[in-house]
Amino acid sequence: MTTQYIADAGVISGDLMDTDSDTGINPSAGSGINTGTGTGTVTAEAVAAEWRRRAGRPGLARVMRASQPAELNAGVTELTRRVLADLLDRAAAAEGRPLRSVLEAGCGIGRLTPVIAAHADRVVALDMTPPMLDAAQSACAGLSNVEFQAGRVEDACWHGEFDVAVSVWVLMHVLDEDRLRAACQALATSSRYVVLVEYDHAHVPVSRWSRLRTLVEYQALLAGAEVVTTRRIDYGGDRSTAALLRCPTRGDGQC
Ligand SMILES: C[S@@+](CC[C@H](N)C(=O)[O-])C[C@H]1O[C@@H](n2cnc3c(N)ncnc32)[C@H](O)[C@@H]1O
Repeated sequence: MTTQYIADAGVISGDLMDTDSDTGINPSAGSGINTGTGTGTVTAEAVAAEWRRRAGRPGLARVMRASQPAELNAGVTELTRRVLADLLDRAAAAEGRPLRSVLEAGCGIGRLTPVIAAHADRVVALDMTPPMLDAAQSACAGLSNVEFQAGRVEDACWHGEFDVAVSVWVLMHVLDEDRLRAACQALATSSRYVVLVEYDHAHVPVSRWSRLRTLVEYQALLAGAEVVTTRRIDYGGDRSTAALLRCPTRGDGQC
C-alpha cells in the first residue's frame, strides 16, 4: 500500500536558491531526482564541520533544508512524526509483537526520538555531531528508555541487536561511496527492518553537502532489502519517500 501525505503548508517559488549551497548544483537528467555533485572535493571532515556549523542554527533549522521557508519546519516535522509512527506500527504488526529495540541512526536534535521511544522498549540514538547529540539528550531528558551514542553510522558494527533501524534524511549526507556502502551494511545487519526516509526530488536542487539516490539504489545497498510499504512526504515542492524495508541479512554481516 502506498499512502501520500501532503503537508498543508504551501509552495515555494522556483527561483529560491539553497542557502547551504555554494558550489556544485547539478540537477540530474532523466532520473527525476536532483543529485548534488562535487562530492569528490568534499571530505568526510568537511561534512562533519558543516554539521557542527548547522548545529548552531536556531531550532528546527538545524535539521531542515535552509532553502525551505522556516514556516514549513513545524508542520513538516509533525508530518514526519506521523509517518514514522505509522511505519513503526507497521513493523510491530509484521513482527506480531511490540518492538523491543530500535536504532535511530542520525538522530540530530532528537525531534523524532520521542516518537520512536513511544514505540519501543529501548532506543539507541546515534549521531556524529556532538552539539546535535547534546540537543537530542535535552529533548529526551524525561525518557528513560533512550540511550545516546556519539559516532558515525558507517563506523558502527551491529549484529541484529535491533528490531528496526530508523534513518531519516541522513544517508543523503554520506557522500563518499565506500562510507555509504559501510553505513548501509551496518544498518542492514543491525535490524530486521529499516525505516528509511530520503528525498526523491528536491524542488531547489540540493547543495554539495547532499546527494540524492533512489529507493532502488538504497535497496541494493541495504543487501537487497525488500519494500514492505511506502509513504510519501511532500511539502514545499520537495518530495520524499518513507519506506519500511525488510532486510535479509540481520546479524549475518561482517564488520
Ligand atoms: C538532516 S539531519 C536529520 C536528523 C534527524 N534524522 C531528523 O530527521 O530530525 C542529519 C543528521 O545526521 C547526522 N549525520 C550525518 N551523517 C552521519 C553519519 N555518517 N553518521 C551519523 N550521523 C550522521 C548529522 O549530524 C545530523 O544530525
